[in-house]
Amino acid sequence: MESFWEKDRKNYQKFEPIKNNINTSICIIGGGLTGLSTAYYLSKETDVVIVEKDRICSGTSSKTTGKVTSQHGIFYNYLVESKGKEFAKKYLEANERAIANIEKIIKENQIECDYEKEDSYVFTCQETMVDQIKSEQACIEKISDGKSEFVKQIDLPIETKGAIKFKNQAQINPLKYAYGLADAIIKKNGKIFENSRVTDIKKKNNKYVVFANDSKIVADYVVIATRYPIINIPGYYFLKMYQSTSYAILADVKKDLFDGCYINLETPNLSFRTVKDGDKKLLLAVGFDYKTGTDEVRNGYQRLETVVRKMYPDAETLYKWSAEDCISLDKIPYMGEMSLIRKNMYIATGFNKWGVTSSNVAANIIADGILGKENEYKEIFKATRLEPMKNREEVVNMLNEVNKSLIAGRFKIPKNELDDVKIGEGKIVKIDNHKIGVYKSETGEIYKINPYCTHLGCELSFNNIDKVWECPCHGSKFTYDGKSIEVPSNKNL
Ligand code: FES
Repeated sequence: MESFWEKDRKNYQKFEPIKNNINTSICIIGGGLTGLSTAYYLSKETDVVIVEKDRICSGTSSKTTGKVTSQHGIFYNYLVESKGKEFAKKYLEANERAIANIEKIIKENQIECDYEKEDSYVFTCQETMVDQIKSEQACIEKISDGKSEFVKQIDLPIETKGAIKFKNQAQINPLKYAYGLADAIIKKNGKIFENSRVTDIKKKNNKYVVFANDSKIVADYVVIATRYPIINIPGYYFLKMYQSTSYAILADVKKDLFDGCYINLETPNLSFRTVKDGDKKLLLAVGFDYKTGTDEVRNGYQRLETVVRKMYPDAETLYKWSAEDCISLDKIPYMGEMSLIRKNMYIATGFNKWGVTSSNVAANIIADGILGKENEYKEIFKATRLEPMKNREEVVNMLNEVNKSLIAGRFKIPKNELDDVKIGEGKIVKIDNHKIGVYKSETGEIYKINPYCTHLGCELSFNNIDKVWECPCHGSKFTYDGKSIEVPSNKNL
């Protein structure tokens, strides 16, 4: 579903698909905020090409909350305990610097992206969680210079027991920001190609050859900025991450709204911010996330509406959408060189739902790496770190799913037939002794797909709310008629 941010896309510049072979210094795969930000820095120094399979800023970047913040929920206690005080301090610093960088880019390029400075809060409504909030705040004070404050009252119309306030954070319209970046890249002679799907990357004579549509891009460096890496080996990122889908609604609450942006401490996570729409201020609520491909939460829009109506009884939902994010095992993004055995290939992934700020951190680390400059945060986000390699849960989950596809798929075919599929629903059924994914549209058309993921073969499940096929292994998504829409899969069913 289209997000609110995308509503004015028709007014923005379109970029042609790639049609000819090209030589360049750097080829960036993926035109989301990370790809664009990386190209923004690099295009000042050298020639850059971006190839995007859809329109720019059309994946997670177009579905994000647009929060620009170093407050990543309750996180710093965890970082100090697992990685140490210096590490946590640097993580905070890197994100604070990214906030300043984004503001600088917006000012220098006069990007009209509804940039607003806001304070950010993580809050709890439970007395039993106040100690956790206080302890996190005390931890932040040890690694920063007065960054945070414990407050009892916040501006949201709900009864809270305590919150941590981060001053001088921000919020933007991500699509407007993305097109501002694109404009700056083009002015520096960078090239952007839309509707250009990358199908392969090969190494030849110390150069990379990137195959997109029917063309080849020969580059010294490749940056994979596709949210989830589109290549499996080397790197093995599919063993180190899973994907999570969150629901979002934008509502006209018919009342004055609050200042600040918010996220709660409880599960499910709920996030709130205001959004400018002309003279109006609307409410963006996001939450009820679930591991993609599982049945954990299936009525997220409805639940979000219930939450919003408790605060604002007259609220009217104007937009609904869902967003997918990569979650790394140790909750720290991967940024930098992709693998020790694949030189000059860079990656940024595993942003754990903090994509806008992380896009700038990643862009700087990657651009500095390529340009041979020192970056003081590169070790914090080092993509080749070995520690979270043993994601046993993910491995077992994937093997189970593949096993289900290969063994159970052949011998234990479900008994349901085509007639069991209800209108507006998708299901895997048995037809002529084979498993087939079937979706029956509201108007009765029947769409049949091969129900095995084109990434590594796991059996898909149907999300009846968003009408998409989802993979429980690494979170690829496909339209009801089988088109690949979310990576890591890059091929239709
Ligand atoms: Fe990896 Fe489907 S996303 S097998």
